[in-house]
Amino acid sequence: YSSFISQDQKEPPGPKALPLLGNLLQVDLMRLDNSLFNLSKKYGSVFTVYFALKKVVVLAGYRTVKQALVNHAEEFGDREVTPIFYDFNKGHGILFSNGDSWKEMRRFALTTLRDFGMGKRISEGRIIEECRYLIEEFEQYEGKAFNNTKAISYATSNIISAIMFGKRFEYKDPLFQAMVERDHESIRLTGSAPILIYNMFPWLGPFLKNWKHLMKNVERNIEDTKHIIADLKKTLNPEMCRCFVDAFLTRKQNLEESENKESHYHDDNLVHSVINLFAAGTDTTGNTLQWCLLFIAKYPHIQGAKTHPHELSRVVGSRQVRVEDRKNLSYTDAVLHEVQRMANVAPMAIPHKTSRDVTYQGYFIKEGTTVFPLLTSVLYDESEWESPHTFNPSHFLDKEGKFIRRDAFMPFSAGRRVCLGESLARMELFLFFTSLLQCFRFTPPPGVTEDELELTPVVGFLLTPSPHELCAVSRH
Ligand code: HEM
Repeated sequence: YSSFISQDQKEPPGPKALPLLGNLLQVDLMRLDNSLFNLSKKYGSVFTVYFALKKVVVLAGYRTVKQALVNHAEEFGDREVTPIFYDFNKGHGILFSNGDSWKEMRRFALTTLRDFGMGKRISEGRIIEECRYLIEEFEQYEGKAFNNTKAISYATSNIISAIMFGKRFEYKDPLFQAMVERDHESIRLTGSAPILIYNMFPWLGPFLKNWKHLMKNVERNIEDTKHIIADLKKTLNPEMCRCFVDAFLTRKQNLEESENKESHYHDDNLVHSVINLFAAGTDTTGNTLQWCLLFIAKYPHIQGAKTHPHELSRVVGSRQVRVEDRKNLSYTDAVLHEVQRMANVAPMAIPHKTSRDVTYQGYFIKEGTTVFPLLTSVLYDESEWESPHTFNPSHFLDKEGKFIRRDAFMPFSAGRRVCLGESLARMELFLFFTSLLQCFRFTPPPGVTEDELELTPVVGFLLTPSPHELCAVSRH
């Protein structure tokens, strides 16, 4: 029957593939998302490419990506666990897992993150407190140029750390610095050409420097996480959970007492869920915040001049910004959204896989096929955005200057695998960005013009701003 279907229905078209190499010569592995976006203009919004022998179906354009991920959520909702993703978590945790274990871990993470404040007042308070530390850190440079990458990652990491471990870390803590640095490195290396090649030819692993480095990082991450968990275990009080780890350990104990020995609440799932949330919650948000500062330094009119006060000073003045101010800060909100659109930090989301045979837009896609939801093609979709390639906050403003939502704003992806931390990330971005703007004006280093500020990203698993320095000049 299935061979009848595959003969009868056509598979998605695509460029002609060479034996063994597939389409490797037709794509630029250094900027894969753009290459695939270009191919979509020729082959349509559902097309096939071969990475060596690996067949991948690419979904391009807002309508196609959204309909697949939302209207066919089940069929397109599995994760493709590539060799490197398997090396990371051995199928445990949330990011790179599937089936009942993924479902249970994702559900537990969502409820527990909410219990510990995601999207609520508690995390608002925590983020505001962290803003103070970040501002202090910036003030130390007294307006001189510096690279803000580390300080920003520490700040965003501390928000997820507080939920995971019940505490924030000092920015100078060597353990914390090492954990954040390893995540940073891993994101860069995972998107590097050697690792993309490793995913096609896994036997190459031991010969690749990047792979060996990543494996060392994986080992250390597991070690450090286990230590933190062991410390928390010593003072665990099931009546009073302080954090995600406590909540997990308590659930595990309860299940063990009820003789439910086969549960998904085991040590591997705990360690890898913690590793996943820490990693997913740090650099994505940190990167975006760095992009915010870079964009406003490049387009300084956004920060307002003395004669034309910025919306923030008009609406909020010098008091602490709160989440509830957002509705009165349309322009600021539009700037944040436009930065997220242009920065496009997760250009291909994370690869998906079909969970069963599916016919989509007339094409037959077999169960287990790798699927790339090309977010670049959504955030830059020419039929959705008035000026897709220009930084233009008006994309998110109506004629009266009020903030408007746009359907094609999908930096967190959509459907069954949609970013689990979206509401936390949005709260962090808003509070960190506005609090920094209240205190500082961000400018290029002396001798560098705004035009010279580089917006070309460094490509890894995420798109990251190129290494750069900015001045944070006090407004007071
Ligand atoms: C997944 C974006 C912040 C936790 C994802 C995905 C994207 C994304 C595109 C992949 C969705 C897919 O596969 O279709 C972002 C962006 C962020 C951000 C742009 C910040 C600006 C966060 C934060 C957390 C988080 C703060 C932690 C609380 C996760 C997790 C997944 C995920 C656990 C995997 C979900 C699953 O496989 O079921 N995110 N994210 N993210 N994100 Fe985020």
